[in-house]
Amino acid sequence: MKYEVAASRSRMHSPYMEWAKTHAHGRYNLASSGVAAFPFKQLAQISNLRLEDLDLTGPAGYGYGPLQNALAKKAGVAPECVVAATGTSLANHLAMAASVEPGDDVLIEWPAYELLVTTARYLGANVRRFPRQWQDGFRLEPREVEKALTPETKLIVVTNLHNPSSAFADDAALRAVGELAKRIGARVLVDEVYLESCFSTGWRTAFHLGDHFIATSSLTKAYGLLGLRCGWAIAEPELARAMWRLNDFYGVNAAHPAEHLCVVALEHLGEIAAGYQTLLESNRRIVNQFLDAHPELELARQPYGTVLFPRLRNGSAGDFCRLLEEQYETSVVPGSFFEAPEHFRLFVAAEKTILVSGLERLSAALDRWKHA
Ligand SMILES: Cc1ncc(COP(=O)(O)O)c(C=O)c1O
Repeated sequence: MKYEVAASRSRMHSPYMEWAKTHAHGRYNLASSGVAAFPFKQLAQISNLRLEDLDLTGPAGYGYGPLQNALAKKAGVAPECVVAATGTSLANHLAMAASVEPGDDVLIEWPAYELLVTTARYLGANVRRFPRQWQDGFRLEPREVEKALTPETKLIVVTNLHNPSSAFADDAALRAVGELAKRIGARVLVDEVYLESCFSTGWRTAFHLGDHFIATSSLTKAYGLLGLRCGWAIAEPELARAMWRLNDFYGVNAAHPAEHLCVVALEHLGEIAAGYQTLLESNRRIVNQFLDAHPELELARQPYGTVLFPRLRNGSAGDFCRLLEEQYETSVVPGSFFEAPEHFRLFVAAEKTILVSGLERLSAALDRWKHA
């Protein structure tokens, strides 16, 4: 199933985002993708922050110095490679807008986070796709990228971890994709927002694989800081400058109290992550037990990530998601939003009581589905 292409640019929208904002509110919400919110009070406690430390307005310019430095330190790059942005969302938008002209080919993984596809289309790009096969655990396969490349390809787009499956792409696979891109003068955009949740394994941003890489991320998914909108892109300095200048069209400056709080959060990421790491490890055991008991769901288990993308062996996953929501008060994301309608996306980083109750309901619904 392919996304519909909107007839008019001024009426383009994201079906997934609209659904997520208006429908994914089951009592047992397993449709989310980021850990539960980190309380402001706790951030204030661990950092000794006082309200009067915040100012409403910061210095003018391209980037707030302390935030530029903190993000550069986190990524291990020079500050001039950093573009702070309102979440990974705007970072992706700026990265695409600065890398492609209308009519250029942009090659995007399939299944994909829909906003990547619709953003490229919004910018007038000609979107082409390469598959990540569920039979291979949604592995990033450079041969599939090579088959889909054209001389007009200017950008290759992947997520790492892969949304919706959480498959991890290692440096070897990314480097191979990078070589393909380099040969034709294209770039590789790696959205790393879920890589942040690989707490126990060290990782480096894909930007270190070469100047033709752009990496984007935020503190949204792994640290419960959705409200801060602390996102960034890492790119070679000239491209980073182009992104900053494009950002003038979208917001000029960030809200300064948020910039300040981003700096505070970045100084305390280890403490913020600790609870989420424990939760993820214990939830993974619970989910694995659930999967052991449900062979009617097919999937390659992933060692990392906040979501999984099982395939329903029998019947329409869309109908199953509806049954789950209407009869069992539990929401998951229908795979059709990722152009993979036999699947659904399951959130595995929910608070424990929600996860356990949601999985019980999922079990009951699967049982009923089997015998329907
Ligand atoms: C792959 C991917 N990129 C970006 C985003 C948006 O992230 P942010 O909240 O940092 O804008 C999401 C949210 O679901 C996502 O799944």
